[in-house]
Amino acid sequence: MPQKKILLLGKIIRYLSRIPLRILVKFKIFLKTKKNYQSELINEQRRLFLNIDLDRKAGKDLVNKVCGEIFNHGYDESEGMFSEHLIIMGSLSIVKQKYKRILEIGTYDGKSALLLSKLFTQAEIVTIDLPSDTSDYVSSYHRESYHKKFVEERDNLLRKSEQIKFIEMNSVRLSDYDLGKFDLIWIDGAHGYPVVAIDIINAFRLIKSGGIVMLDDVHKSVKKSDNLYSSVASFEVLNLLKNNGLIDDYKLFRKRLGVKYNIKDYTEKFVGLVKF
Ligand SMILES: C[S@@+](CC[C@H](N)C(=O)[O-])C[C@H]1O[C@@H](n2cnc3c(N)ncnc32)[C@H](O)[C@@H]1O
Repeated sequence: MPQKKILLLGKIIRYLSRIPLRILVKFKIFLKTKKNYQSELINEQRRLFLNIDLDRKAGKDLVNKVCGEIFNHGYDESEGMFSEHLIIMGSLSIVKQKYKRILEIGTYDGKSALLLSKLFTQAEIVTIDLPSDTSDYVSSYHRESYHKKFVEERDNLLRKSEQIKFIEMNSVRLSDYDLGKFDLIWIDGAHGYPVVAIDIINAFRLIKSGGIVMLDDVHKSVKKSDNLYSSVASFEVLNLLKNNGLIDDYKLFRKRLGVKYNIKDYTEKFVGLVKF
């Protein structure tokens, strides 16, 4: 059989083999929607915010307003990298306007750094990402075909705030780089081993007393693990540090609240938060 036909046949078989799983996931979504799962998720999140003295609704309203001003659209969790981390930052900014220095690991398109600068108007925002001429940078996050344009647009966005200081560096170099201390650190670079373990240890060293470290994409379990996007690494490292008395506790907030993002063991992802 010619090569093309074999490839096509392989594709069809793979597609068909995934159908039962898709039906199961859709069925679970349907059942959970019926049981008001959506409002349960929102209420649970509101309680978690209250637990650390944050007002989720006020935070969301503020993020909505600021997003409208700088991006011409409100907060929408299905938009790009938007997720509950922005709502946590928004509600935090209402009570912590005194924050002076914020570190973001993983700049991506610069939107979160710009938003942080508008939420924390007194703060310097230091944001770092891999050097844009490295293959690790170019080949990740589907940037291959347009990475020059991506970098240009990111830099244009970052230039919109004088509070932002952007550094091209691999985050593991924070171990040997004097950036000073921070009030808030957002760990959102590589999500798997070994990098995220190093990022967490560096963040705990660089955080001021009374500060907050937040981590993106914490998975309690994954079907397939890698060192950049999906891993249980941050969950395991947080538990290890807690069990050894190096942190008192940590909180996990659901990353997105839509039912389809919260099917147990399939799509659940969390934003971690540690208070110092
Ligand atoms: C999920 S995106 C960040 C999204 C952004 N923080 C937000 O909140 O919208 C991850 C970014 O981390 C960067 N990254 C991955 N590994 C890194 C590393 N070792 N050091 C610095 N940045 C890294 C990637 O290049 C990518 O741009």
